[in-house]
Amino acid sequence: MTILFATNNAHKLSEVRTLLAEFGLHDQIITPGQLPVAPDHEPEETGDTYAANAALKVNFLSSYYDGWIMSDDSGIDVAALPGLLGVHSKRWHPGTDADRCQALLAKLATATNRDASYTCVCCLREPTGRVHTFTGVLPGTIAPTCRGQAGFGYDPLFIPTGYNQTLGELGQDVKNQLSHRRRAFQALAKWRRAHPSV
Ligand code: IMP
Repeated sequence: MTILFATNNAHKLSEVRTLLAEFGLHDQIITPGQLPVAPDHEPEETGDTYAANAALKVNFLSSYYDGWIMSDDSGIDVAALPGLLGVHSKRWHPGTDADRCQALLAKLATATNRDASYTCVCCLREPTGRVHTFTGVLPGTIAPTCRGQAGFGYDPLFIPTGYNQTLGELGQDVKNQLSHRRRAFQALAKWRRAHPSV
């Protein structure tokens, strides 16, 4: 089937396409820019949880597309900075991903606790309007400096629990085997397999 994926983030799109194919779902994934009448803006992410923002993204697009719609809201939670990043991970500090990584390092300069976790919540909206929600979490720590070029966002700083390298160093294939996004979309794929008639 064809699913509209509510993202303009090329990295997320590529990760999700790879993951769904690995899980045996060969849907055609389209993005808002491919719609005959594409939205001229993205919805404001006003929710105070990942789930609220993921739901808001699929519901926003339902005015433009009446088929299946999928979304992903994600972010990084840093134990020493409660509430600062989380759903605001993309916006808590101005500039580029690299600027935000440097700002995070500055905030953690004197921190002894560098624990963090990535969370991804994805939503699948049926054409009926019913929304299913799936969550994936990846625990880890924040490295003392940026290392590696792979991935996006905070990947050059994020060391998954059980590893010594950042996701930026480990690379996309390793990331796809353990990421928060993998865990959330694996749950979505499991739901799809359990409901083959939809
Ligand atoms: P969203 O597009 O509203 O879900 O924003 C997610 C933001 O969280 C991204 O812009 C990144 O800053 C951060 N983030 C979420 N997932 C990842 C990831 O897999 N790697 C690195 N950063 C991520």
